Amino acid sequence: MNIKTYNNFVKNGFCVINLFSKKNIDDLTNQLVKEINLKLVGNKFKFTKKNLANFHKVVLNNNSLKKVFDSKKRYIELKKNIIEKLNCKNLSSFLNQLWRHNNKKIVWIGNPRLKEIKYNKAGYRIFVPSKKKNNIKKSAGFPHIDAYSLKNNNFITLWIPLIGFSEKYTMMIAPKSHIKLHSKNKFAKKKNYISRILSKNYSNKFNFVRPRLNKGQVIIHHPNVIHSGGLNIGTKTRVSIEIRLFDQKKFDLKKNFDPKLFN
Ligand SMILES: [Fe+2]
Repeated sequence: MNIKTYNNFVKNGFCVINLFSKKNIDDLTNQLVKEINLKLVGNKFKFTKKNLANFHKVVLNNNSLKKVFDSKKRYIELKKNIIEKLNCKNLSSFLNQLWRHNNKKIVWIGNPRLKEIKYNKAGYRIFVPSKKKNNIKKSAGFPHIDAYSLKNNNFITLWIPLIGFSEKYTMMIAPKSHIKLHSKNKFAKKKNYISRILSKNYSNKFNFVRPRLNKGQVIIHHPNVIHSGGLNIGTKTRVSIEIRLFDQKKFDLKKNFDPKLFN
């Protein structure tokens, strides 16, 4: 990884790196499709890598939708070839610059309050086009930060699109917002949400960008940067996965997850 990319991360709170091959992205999509079909067992319709982009056109009953979108189980297991890619030169050199070592722990976090934590798994997100009428929640997530603690945010998030790579689809990020301390009164009081959502008033003060990516490219973002899924203004259903890498030397369930921040 060149120093410029790392400096971009330090300056803006995110950067884009080349990480996966096109085949890796196809493999991940196939794996997700398999997982979704398993959740929908008994359903006549079968998803494939090709028709997943048309998720919004498929009529699914509420029970099926609940299964696909259940946040407690919205993850896939990471296979060996993908984990190996996380050890590549490009990412290792990034981590070496960030942590002075590259020992990482892959951690999926559902609701930290309920201790929904799993290892070597990646979360997945599916967002239908915002214009399409559908019975799936159209919300693409509110602007929020991922930070689970005020002091011990020893992790980075990799945002990896599987379907939808242009700025019509990609996540929204507010450059440089990671430098600010977002004080407690800047957060919305939404008890039903897991992530730390900021009030509209506060997040509206920031400018957001949506990076344009190539297949296999990944956004690395800081835990304190303000971001959201962003509305899907394309014609395909957007599908992405998220991998969280913790500094293994500092990974500590007690220190890394401050329960006070989620009350
Ligand atoms: Fe997030």
